[in-house]
Amino acid sequence: MTQNLVNAAIAAAANAYAPYSNFHVGAALLLDNGDIVTGSNFENASYGMTLCAETVAIATANSDGLLKNIVAIAVAGGPADKVAANAKAITPCGRCRQIIKEVADLTQRDIPVHCAHANGYDTYLLSELLPHGFGPANLK
Ligand code: THU
Repeated sequence: MTQNLVNAAIAAAANAYAPYSNFHVGAALLLDNGDIVTGSNFENASYGMTLCAETVAIATANSDGLLKNIVAIAVAGGPADKVAANAKAITPCGRCRQIIKEVADLTQRDIPVHCAHANGYDTYLLSELLPHGFGPANLK
């Protein structure tokens, strides 16, 4: 099951628009009904405008009214021809960790993040990736 999600992230990386970094990233969200929503990184000639794969996937789920249904995330990335063979797993960037925290707090689930590498995947909980993070509770 988790390997399916990881495979979906690897497949989504094929749709990355990353002509500047040539670093292709795919993200796959598992929903509570078993469906999968994917995203890939979307770069821009104004480099700082780039959207990461995880953020694209989560915003896509939100657009479909599915934010509350997210239960797990997989991410895969690497040079265009090495996404599935990248020796070292990539973990979500700091900004994406904050975006995932919004999902974790909304759903009250400590979202597992499965990070793909050539020999499988490493799993981290959002609370491990972003301890002591700022979230909705801080606004109260
Ligand atoms: N990138 C992601 O899509 N997700 C991450 O978690 C890390 C970085 C993208 C942004 C940029 O297009 C490329 O990878 C290189 O940084």
